[in-house]
Amino acid sequence: MRPGLQLHRRALLGGTAALAVAAALPALAATGHEARIQGLLKAMTLDEKLGQLNQPAGGRQKALNSRIDAAALDLVRKGGVGSYLHVAGADFLRELQRVAVQESRLKIPLLFAADVIHGFKTIYPVPLAMAATFDPDIVQRCSRMAAIETSVSGLHWTFAPMVDIARDPRWGRIVEGAGEDPHLGSAMAVAQVEGFQTKNLSGKDAILASTKHFGAYGAASGGRDYDGADLSERTLNEVYLPPFYAAAQAGSGTFMTAFNDIGGVPTTANQALVRGVLREQWGYQGLVVSDWNAILELVAHGVAETPVQAAALALKASVDMDMAGGVYVAHLRQAIAEDPTLLPYLDQAVVRILRAKARLGLFDDPMRFGDAAREKTELLSADHRALAREAARKAVVLLRNDGGLLPIASSHKTIAVIGALADDARSQLGSWKARGEEADVVTLLKGLQGSAPAGVKIAYSPGVSVRSDDASGIPAAVETAKAADLVLLVLGEDFDHSGESRSRSDLGLPGPQVALAQAVAATGKPVVIVLMNGRPLAEPAVLDKAPAILETWFLGVEGGNAMADILWGKVSPGGRLPVGFPRASGQTPTFYAHNPTGRPADPDLLKDTARYHDADIGPLFPFGHGLSYASFAYADLAVDRASVAPGGIVKISATITNTGKVVADEVVQLYVRDPVASVARPVKELRGFTRVTLKPGEARRVTFTLRPEQLALWDASGWKIEAGRIEVMVGASSDDIRLRGGFVISAAGKGSAPAASLLTAVSVS
Ligand code: BGC
Repeated sequence: MRPGLQLHRRALLGGTAALAVAAALPALAATGHEARIQGLLKAMTLDEKLGQLNQPAGGRQKALNSRIDAAALDLVRKGGVGSYLHVAGADFLRELQRVAVQESRLKIPLLFAADVIHGFKTIYPVPLAMAATFDPDIVQRCSRMAAIETSVSGLHWTFAPMVDIARDPRWGRIVEGAGEDPHLGSAMAVAQVEGFQTKNLSGKDAILASTKHFGAYGAASGGRDYDGADLSERTLNEVYLPPFYAAAQAGSGTFMTAFNDIGGVPTTANQALVRGVLREQWGYQGLVVSDWNAILELVAHGVAETPVQAAALALKASVDMDMAGGVYVAHLRQAIAEDPTLLPYLDQAVVRILRAKARLGLFDDPMRFGDAAREKTELLSADHRALAREAARKAVVLLRNDGGLLPIASSHKTIAVIGALADDARSQLGSWKARGEEADVVTLLKGLQGSAPAGVKIAYSPGVSVRSDDASGIPAAVETAKAADLVLLVLGEDFDHSGESRSRSDLGLPGPQVALAQAVAATGKPVVIVLMNGRPLAEPAVLDKAPAILETWFLGVEGGNAMADILWGKVSPGGRLPVGFPRASGQTPTFYAHNPTGRPADPDLLKDTARYHDADIGPLFPFGHGLSYASFAYADLAVDRASVAPGGIVKISATITNTGKVVADEVVQLYVRDPVASVARPVKELRGFTRVTLKPGEARRVTFTLRPEQLALWDASGWKIEAGRIEVMVGASSDDIRLRGGFVISAAGKGSAPAASLLTAVSVS
């Protein structure tokens, strides 16, 4: 235990001696939850109600619990706090909870929240990398693991999943989400909610998820974090909202509103979106929390003149809890005095917060979370490390492999590893690391050193830092390369180049990495580029020419072992890009599911078409792209009926055969297009995918079950299914379509949900 923690723990222990806490709540335990909540509501003073809405920070991210002092405890005793974020530790949180449930008048338990984004202690790949697995099952299992570690540590609630669609890689927070596609994003959102919460929130080791940042945070202008989004209603509904809808349907216990505005209305004050769409249209009954200080920031947005007005606006929008702003607790009293019609809104917010506590079982047993003994056995257990390694292997994407440079040939006896990121434990943890520690990380260098076949030497030279201009390490790196049979050149960004408020205008390689790459290439040695980064990069001088590129993102504590497994060929890479790589920074945003234009991009520069004159057409690596050590044949597309009416289903099947020499995974992708509709439709939209493992020569029949509702388009009347022909495409990436077919939607109809949010059943036989 750190010294600071001890001090605060003493302050906590200053209360009355520990009692059996459940026994302190006999009246509550005897009644049903709803009756109990209504009873509490009647019993609460205005201050106690405001207290429930208050979520102060218990510490700073780097000094958790540091703000829990005697004054903070007094506030808890007065019922002035509903929840804390940035707190930690099973014993510490037990004591804090004890103060709330024994020493406050109404004995209402606190909710403890944290950002557990891709692991608690066992850090697994960053969310963008998890999306690259195209494997909701591993995402669900990793979220489950994170929930176990989180709950035994005394926390009830994680601020994940982040489901913001990101089509602009300049936006630093692209690393925290599932990339550019709303269908993939919906699948990843559901997998995480199910992993964190399980089917029953009061079950063992279940924690509350918080789906964030509702509604178009990822559409920030120019990719600048926090900046406003100005987008059409159609794009909002068809692209940005589907993963939120999917998460709401999956039962996400809480939602978080975004910092930014949509068309001038900050979401934290957006009644039409939060109260209207989320609650009234989607029927969402869970708790909505603001983002950090976002209620007070309504003043800076210029939609409220005072904190009192800001508080009233957020409450009316149905934002229940105030994260870190203290605005509700300080100013809602006055807002209500000025406008008593706010009182029912306040009661609704209180009830939703109490229900979240009830759903977690906290009224029955406020101490059911946090177990110091299990903390010792669960955190970073061998099983958890093994799962993190499996996920990391699945997240790696082989972008190019000309001449079969990978896997490393057994004839290569000296391998040069060049680049500071190869041994940068901090970066491998990614921008959110919860309680992850550098000491627990196996870096790429350590992974290779620990697994090199007998007689193979690993020579390391950091070359240049990705942070400074100092290029003095280049000559030594060149010498290391010259003495090697093969160079693994590790390039990219460090952990702090992406993440919150880490937008970049240039997607190139930071620091003198281009000079390093050029000097190493000039040795004439075969070079494999290993990328580490939290966003798509665009560095034509290096990436256009490199014969082999392996994308490894930030893979977490087991990343080095996983990368080594792939590089030595123990496992074939099977990850796919959840977001395309542009050719140049100036090409952003670019995405595969764009609408056709009257003048589609044409290679002939003499024609006036929708393209840049100084860059080739399309991305360097498209959405869904990823190679393998094997190869796959696609055959026998069958669409089981020529036409289908709304409410019906259509089955699309294809046979995939491993035509290579090794066991490998293939991600089979289904795309659709509505070629003629009342409005222009995207040239392609993902509507199904599955990752299959095939032995050499093995063939499998993959069947997607599609519904006309998944083709619905959004207009002012809602989700509209239009009659007409639909094209289907099955392939290995958005740009590698192997089979084409189609069917007809026989009649018009209405959908009831965002088309991209509806997940497609896939069977493999
Ligand atoms: C971020 C959220 C995060 C919160 C609490 C905010 O700045 O936008 O994603 O959950 O802080 O740490």
